[in-house]
Amino acid sequence: MLQRQLGHQGLTVSAIGLGCMGMSDFYGSSDQHNNLRVLAEALALGVSFWDSADMYGLGSNEALIGQFFASHPGSRQRVQLATKFGIVRAADGSFVGVNGRPDYVKQACDASLKRLGVEQIDLYYQHRVDPQVPIEETVGAMAELVTAGKVNYIGLSEASSATIERAHRVHPLSAVQSEYSLWTRDIEAQVLPTCQRLGIGLVPYSPLGRGFLTGAIRQRSDLAADDWRLQAPRFAAEHFDHNLQLVDQLTTMAASKGCTQAQLALAWLLAQDVAIAPIPGTRSMTRLAENAAAAHISLTPDDLAVLDQHLKSSDIIGERYPEAASALLLADTPAL
Ligand SMILES: NC(=O)c1ccc[n+]([C@@H]2O[C@H](COP(=O)([O-])OP(=O)(O)OC[C@H]3O[C@@H](n4cnc5c(N)ncnc54)[C@H](OP(=O)(O)O)[C@@H]3O)[C@@H](O)[C@H]2O)c1
Repeated sequence: MLQRQLGHQGLTVSAIGLGCMGMSDFYGSSDQHNNLRVLAEALALGVSFWDSADMYGLGSNEALIGQFFASHPGSRQRVQLATKFGIVRAADGSFVGVNGRPDYVKQACDASLKRLGVEQIDLYYQHRVDPQVPIEETVGAMAELVTAGKVNYIGLSEASSATIERAHRVHPLSAVQSEYSLWTRDIEAQVLPTCQRLGIGLVPYSPLGRGFLTGAIRQRSDLAADDWRLQAPRFAAEHFDHNLQLVDQLTTMAASKGCTQAQLALAWLLAQDVAIAPIPGTRSMTRLAENAAAAHISLTPDDLAVLDQHLKSSDIIGERYPEAASALLLADTPAL
């Protein structure tokens, strides 16, 4: 597996990572025994940049990774482990709010370390910026976690360009995690150029458009009744077919490159910058290997231009999140 450097602080990760969220939440049921096998296979393939968050499965996603480490001696040292704090949920899973207060940051980190069963988190992100708390205060607390040896590198998720700049002045960010894919290119306007200018790595989440860009989801009924995507505007009944028609334009291009649509979507991301490492999520051994192989697909400038013509993200209909969650995207915080 090829490696990529994120930031200038020493964080090196596998070019293709593994998003673990779907193993515990949001995308229907999954089998824990199978998930542990997928994690083992990921390590075997060198897909060692793993992504979790304390809110995924109300902690059970971190606990799953902790269970894996405990049952695979020596595995912890081979993983670049990323997790996040800041989205608070009630015991029934409902959304309570965001919290970026310094005392909460430290409490959340200790809880994550415990569930993961590790002494250090490699990359610790604020999951959503807290609009009530100046970013300097939150990042100040994250910097103290680095000093305490509990965290190696820090990052933000879904932060605005201005917030990233302010945060980076308090403590260097190694990575920003934002939604970025062929059908979501919002960050190209400001966030990506800011990261490039400041030398911060970019970790695209939902790089396969939550599965839609792969062409594997053909109709809403392909998703389980409790699948979160059924609430996402882009998957809404009135938008689904229109969006699918656009995404189906990728079929020919993938065939001409001798790859799958999923691989094309990942190769496109890798071609945007050397400091980009996407984290596709999967619970399937076959798809894991397919996604890992995308690291070796190179796209020419002509390929990239054709892709731009084929799939214009501006033609996609529907916001990426339901309205309430949208308010927290690419957010700012009050001045210190
Ligand atoms: N920072 C944030 O706010 C945020 C938000 C969302 C996600 N994330 C992180 O980003 C990671 C990835 O995002 P995501 O899981 O939302 O979306 P994604 O990676 O774009 O897509 C995942 C979906 O695609 C399917 N899939 C994976 N590989 C495939 C392939 N080769 N062919 C066909 N289908 C394939 C998966 O199904 P199977 O599992 O059944 O294979 C799953 O339904 C998450 O796991 C999470 O760690 C972060």
